[in-house]
Amino acid sequence: MHSLNNELEMLKQVIQDFEKERPVNTAGSAREVLETLDVGLSDSGCDQDTLVDFAKKYVALNPDVSQTDFFKLLYSGINAPGLFGEWVASLSNANMHTYQMSPVATLMELELIKQWNQLIGYEQGEGVLVSGGSQANLIGMMLGRHHKLGDCKRLGLQGKTLIAYVSDQAHYSSQRAANLLGIGTDNLIAVASDEDGRIIPDELEKEIKASLAKDHTPFYIGLTAGTTVIGAYDPIKPCAEIAKRYDLWLHVDGAWGAPVLFSKEHRHLMDDVSLSDSMSWDAHKLLSVPLTSSGVQVKKAGILKEAIAGGGGEYLFHQDENADFNLGEKSIQCGRRADSLKVWMSWKANGANGFANKVDHLQAMKRHCVEQIENHPRFKLLAPTAYLNILFRYEPETELTEEQLRELNITICKNLKSKGSAFIDYASFKGRSGIRLILGNVDTTKEIVDKVLALCAAEGDLLTK
Ligand SMILES: Cc1ncc(COP(=O)(O)O)c(C=O)c1O
Repeated sequence: MHSLNNELEMLKQVIQDFEKERPVNTAGSAREVLETLDVGLSDSGCDQDTLVDFAKKYVALNPDVSQTDFFKLLYSGINAPGLFGEWVASLSNANMHTYQMSPVATLMELELIKQWNQLIGYEQGEGVLVSGGSQANLIGMMLGRHHKLGDCKRLGLQGKTLIAYVSDQAHYSSQRAANLLGIGTDNLIAVASDEDGRIIPDELEKEIKASLAKDHTPFYIGLTAGTTVIGAYDPIKPCAEIAKRYDLWLHVDGAWGAPVLFSKEHRHLMDDVSLSDSMSWDAHKLLSVPLTSSGVQVKKAGILKEAIAGGGGEYLFHQDENADFNLGEKSIQCGRRADSLKVWMSWKANGANGFANKVDHLQAMKRHCVEQIENHPRFKLLAPTAYLNILFRYEPETELTEEQLRELNITICKNLKSKGSAFIDYASFKGRSGIRLILGNVDTTKEIVDKVLALCAAEGDLLTK
């Protein structure tokens, strides 16, 4: 039996470094890092000390996403039970295609799917864990294609021009999906959104009618619950009525925003989500479970296998007493990590109430942040803040053009990053650019919010004085 004591010792040394107080970002450009770090591989091997040394450098140069100063992405902080689950999953190297290669992880995955279906209100639902929100959206669109063109799996598109609809605020993964599924990215229509970044149902219907007039075949509506830039929630009910009227598949991309379903106070943002046919979620975003941990939920059981399965029966998917528990025929992957373990561990440790508290706490921090921005003479909010994205900018007293304001705010973000004081990013909404602050870290306090805003203001003052 292989002893892992050495590896454990090595890991402990790296963790000691990881836990040291350090700036949120230290890495310079790729060229600068290459000058100080030789990542070259060679014919001869190396000893363990060299590996530890590299691991320490790796950790030192990677942005510390566990810190409360990390506001750049849709996750921040550390989820210790999730990390523990990640380590155990790697230790076991379980494979999710068949029950016999992942007995407990399979049962955990099925439990997670059941819990999410309850949250959504899919009474007879199913689901599967996937490699990320992008794959979840791909599967959603694939199910839509299957719904409209049942024999597409065997025969392809058969000369039909299938049309999918998302809002102009939707994540780019829908483009990837349209590409991969042979729909064509020109046949993914970006429907106009309103001033709140929500899809306009009347515009959606107009686009569908326009497609029909061209003899095209509408098949899929992809709504977003929590858009990437401003966190907008598309209105589900009116779009569900349209989907029903034209017999289209209705998918909801909840990769970022679906955790509101845990919260009694905020789940109204996704009212009527049970009217959809499928939904994506990511535990590696707001829930801070290590990347990647995502799922796609489906209202009607049986469709995943119908649309996806094919092959493997002769050597892998044996028809034994556990055949019903083999998740592999619902997945587009063959080998698949046991992501269920880290999500399950995290859920077990926090309980659904823990996740609800996180949403509620961060919404309270968001309200505080918005108040501070609105009361600050130099700050301007650029978009509504239904969720945990705050898009705002620094505007000096002297009038600047949109382009100059964009440059100024980009420079604020870049300078704070290179000083290592806060890692934030910039983005645009409806033609105006500013700082996108994401509140995803459960340890965020009002003081931390005040600090990052003060840093932005001070940098803005410095750049414009
Ligand atoms: C709304 C939304 N959907 C999907 C995705 C893609 O998720 P993933 O990065 O897990 O592939 C993102 C990523 O930011 C997102 O914001």
